[in-house]
Amino acid sequence: MTALFTPFQLKDVTLRNRIAVPPMCQYSAVEGKVTDWHLAHYTSMARGGAGLVIVEATGVSPEGRITPACLGLWSDEHIEGLAQIAQAIKAAGAVPGIQIAHAGRKASANRPWEGDDHIAADDPRGWQPIGASAIAYGENLPRVPQEMSLADIQRVQADFAAAARRAKQAGFEWLELHFAHGYLAQSFFSKHSNLRQDQYGGDFAGRSRFLRETFAAVRAVWPEHLALTARFGVIEYDGHDEETLSESIELVKQLRTDGLDLLNVSVNFNIPQAQVPWAEPAFLAPVAERVRREANLPVAASWGLDKPELANRLVEQQQMDLVMIGRAFLANPHYPLQAAKALQLEKPTWVLPAPYAHWLERY
Ligand SMILES: Cc1cc2nc3c(=O)[nH]c(=O)nc-3n(C[C@H](O)[C@H](O)[C@H](O)COP(=O)(O)O)c2cc1C
Repeated sequence: MTALFTPFQLKDVTLRNRIAVPPMCQYSAVEGKVTDWHLAHYTSMARGGAGLVIVEATGVSPEGRITPACLGLWSDEHIEGLAQIAQAIKAAGAVPGIQIAHAGRKASANRPWEGDDHIAADDPRGWQPIGASAIAYGENLPRVPQEMSLADIQRVQADFAAAARRAKQAGFEWLELHFAHGYLAQSFFSKHSNLRQDQYGGDFAGRSRFLRETFAAVRAVWPEHLALTARFGVIEYDGHDEETLSESIELVKQLRTDGLDLLNVSVNFNIPQAQVPWAEPAFLAPVAERVRREANLPVAASWGLDKPELANRLVEQQQMDLVMIGRAFLANPHYPLQAAKALQLEKPTWVLPAPYAHWLERY
């Protein structure tokens, strides 16, 4: 069978194919709560045939949101709306996933289409961001975070565990911890943003500590039979890539021993001047393949992998286990049908619900 359309099993969770929707913020929440927009958005991509749909970065605490319009899971009041989404994704035959997150020093920002910058310090819509050290990201995000105390660290780790418990209650079967993209966990691991003198900074073990402890806190509450994953930037494109990659892979190995089931391999995005090779097609695929091989762990990746032949080849050649397709799904929630046709699957409409399948079979 065409590799992209083969099922994938992780623990007791089975995806109907290797096409996954990565988390994509919709900036459409009200006080962290789901709105009609979210329900329609996530349902459409599940109906479109994705194997896995991961709900966007969802703040484990109010100050952990990127913007005031981001989703949250810091109170039981957030469960009901997310449960509707999880149920709708499942009813459409996809696995419901969610990414839980703390934005760290990148928090308190305006929506991308309203500036993508920090909300001004004197604007009541914003708040004081916290971080590993009192170092600003820079450029559009100039606010200096408040360095987290040991009590802050413990609280945020407890917030991650509580959010994981609520995600389970809401019916999600796939949990992704956001350890990437320059947000809080990634910034603890990076020498660019962590200059701490205590046990959470300094050498590899110190810079890994926040991530390992947070992972362990979540592992303790997330059921063993469901998928526990993380998204982690393993490369910064700052001229020190070999060092970052080998340190990152070392941490991934440790997380695997701690109970990580799959890694969504990504980029650090921890300094604005990084030279990400955007023009290189599928630039992250060899990186993902290396993590998969050296850490001996299933991986997924994204960033420009939506050409169906390419996506299929990445799975076929065992460079990654799942292919994350983001913007192409926003453009067309029926991306899997388009991919199936491009790959000349004999009867591609099996991924479609009956009210569409009947009409689109010969369309
Ligand atoms: C609108 C939008 C929102 C995003 N929000 C998140 C997010 O919440 N968490 C995350 O890890 N990545 C986020 N990303 C990155 C995507 O998960 C994905 O990696 C990116 O779109 C590249 O994949 P693509 O080339 O298939 O679009 C976002 C991307 C977009 C376009």
